[in-house]
Amino acid sequence: MHILVTGGAGFIGSHTVVALVEAGFKPVIIDNFSNSEPRALEGIEKILGHSVPFYQANCDDADLLREIFEKEQIGGVIHFAAYKAVGESMAEPLKYYRNNLGSLITLLEVMVEKGVPNLIFSSSCTVYGQPDQLPVTEDTPVKPAESVYGNTKQVGEEILRDTIGSGNPLKIIGLRYFNPIGAHPSAHIGELPLGVPNNLVPFVTQTAAGMRKSLTVFGGDYPTPDGTCIRDYIHVMDLAEAHVAALQKLIDTPQSNYYDVFNVGTGQGNSVLEVIQTFDKISGQEGLPYVIGARRAGDVVAVYADATKVNAGLGWTAKRNLEDALRDAWKWQKTLG
Ligand code: UFG
Repeated sequence: MHILVTGGAGFIGSHTVVALVEAGFKPVIIDNFSNSEPRALEGIEKILGHSVPFYQANCDDADLLREIFEKEQIGGVIHFAAYKAVGESMAEPLKYYRNNLGSLITLLEVMVEKGVPNLIFSSSCTVYGQPDQLPVTEDTPVKPAESVYGNTKQVGEEILRDTIGSGNPLKIIGLRYFNPIGAHPSAHIGELPLGVPNNLVPFVTQTAAGMRKSLTVFGGDYPTPDGTCIRDYIHVMDLAEAHVAALQKLIDTPQSNYYDVFNVGTGQGNSVLEVIQTFDKISGQEGLPYVIGARRAGDVVAVYADATKVNAGLGWTAKRNLEDALRDAWKWQKTLG
């Protein structure tokens, strides 16, 4: 089956393209390189030994989507394309609402029009905010979003629920990602942050590579065992494989109108200091330079997944651990020089 992957040159998208091909699907990528680079496509080609059909365009283009759906005989869509910088989303809310929700609505309209039944949507554990109970299940109440970015994921989920609730002939899974890190073990593809990384692991690997002087740990006085925040770090290849499992679930679902959400995490929480210690272990370098700084606005203290539903419902379990993910992230960083 041909699968359109929007944002397929991005971090999670590029790894999912590889996982799709390995599972026998035929991905077609649409990406406007707004936060990705052509080298991701070159890396995919190196891993697979062949190129993947690619359209450099904005996925909010209904006419182009119609054309691609027909020409490429698309049977499903994995919709990654979205802006994802929390801070920027607060400064430029309309840019985020337009891009993240406009493209979703366009996609849904054209899918209904063209009879493309299967959709996987990138959601985030950010919809839970700081949960009252850990680990978080899918029944954990969604909290008011802390950022415009987070709100685009919440509203995105509502749009999907309402689209299915009104009887449209679509089958949709929303995947609530925890913290994706790592890279393909070949080191041909990985994360390519623009400028100074916002996220922990790219900052760690850039610091280890000498590109940054020192990592600032955002807050050492949280109510956690070592005082630093806890997250569920998931290897990007495990996350990629979760998309394949979700797609298979949609294909195997007999009803023509279906929506569900799944947490995609390992079920294991690690603190920022544990990430640093584990990185020191796998890199074999002298201790990573870091200082404990002020808390970052908007950070939740701790969040990690209850993966029971995704394990049972999609037959998917994370196979790689934090060490594997950091080893692959470090290997990738070293290819970037
Ligand atoms: N951190 C540091 N120093 C850094 C960068 C991060 O200490 O230089 C800490 C953060 O405070 C946090 C942890 O590392 O405790 C992880 O931070 P990331 O920025 O890597 O990831 P987040 O947990 O903030 O990101 C998640 C999702 C995003 C979502 C965000 C919303 O991955 O998609 O939550 O809050 F936008």
